[in-house]
Amino acid sequence: MSSGPLTIAPDMSVSLAGIRLRNPVLAASGTFGYGLEWESLLDLNSLGGFVTKGLSREPMPGNPPPRLVVMPSGMLNSIGLQNVGVDAFIREKLPKLARLKTVVIANVFGYEIEDYVEVVRRLDGADGLAAYELNLSCPNTSHGGMTFGIDPQLTAAVIAAVKKISQRPVIAKLSPNVADIIPIAKAAESAGADALSLVNTVLAKQSPDTPRSARIPSGGGGLSGPAIHEVALRMVSAAASTVRIPIIGLGGILCGADAAAFIRAGAVAVQVGTANFYDPLAVPRIARELQDYFRARNSAARVSKRTDGTQRPGR
Ligand SMILES: Cc1cc2nc3c(=O)[nH]c(=O)nc-3n(C[C@H](O)[C@H](O)[C@H](O)COP(=O)(O)O)c2cc1C
Repeated sequence: MSSGPLTIAPDMSVSLAGIRLRNPVLAASGTFGYGLEWESLLDLNSLGGFVTKGLSREPMPGNPPPRLVVMPSGMLNSIGLQNVGVDAFIREKLPKLARLKTVVIANVFGYEIEDYVEVVRRLDGADGLAAYELNLSCPNTSHGGMTFGIDPQLTAAVIAAVKKISQRPVIAKLSPNVADIIPIAKAAESAGADALSLVNTVLAKQSPDTPRSARIPSGGGGLSGPAIHEVALRMVSAAASTVRIPIIGLGGILCGADAAAFIRAGAVAVQVGTANFYDPLAVPRIARELQDYFRARNSAARVSKRTDGTQRPGR
């Protein structure tokens, strides 16, 4: 079982699959660009780390607008995995990212196992990355469009193929769109995943009464933000009681207490996604709030130990 809050040192650093994070709060894929877009807003080196936009073999233009709609308790997106493609990323973004001291994780996706392998192979030849996060919420075109992450065998196959060639740790990012996360988490661990990220967005459909200007052309997309927080917590908790590899919890984190809930459920680190759209400084703020949360909790625990007589100060 993954360890809980005790893995956070007083200085907030944590170790994740052999990677040292300055603190356990990272920015989530697709909500923080390639990181460089945030450079004028905050000190990237002060972050626990960040995960890049998903990278594919070829550049992808993404879906037509509107593709991002604000909902009462989160966001619905159908971005269509728009990205510059792995080669342009290596040429244009990575040299700048490699100069940073913070942890940069590349998010990778594909439609065939060979796509994931090829993207990681190209990234592996370049400096500047700490790990790969495989987005398994993609349809596998060789299996009639079945999403990799909803099938234990497909999940294991893609992870094992990437692990075979990767010099860096491989994090499997699992889909919440399954009835039972346990067989998927076990399959990922057995295939050699070094860590799990849980969860991606929850599949959702728009109401037919949605105003035309906010209607996503495909009729729906992935729901994120506070609406999915408790769904994600349940899955992190289930996975943490099943696998020994570390877990990164995400889904609807808006504040330090939300992040703490994942850590108390067994996650070693967390990612912040949708909150970045509301508050560009969300990642460093949540890291500070998380530190305050555990400080307050530790001092409350000390006080209660004193008052119930089980432990005296100085003992
Ligand atoms: C606009 C947008 C784009 C996203 N793009 C990606 C992506 O490229 N790869 C990926 O693995 N997850 C992607 N995600 C999912 C997020 O990384 C995260 O798993 C999800 O939004 C839940 O976290 P949150 O509730 O904090 O946003 C995206 C989410 C949003 C909102």
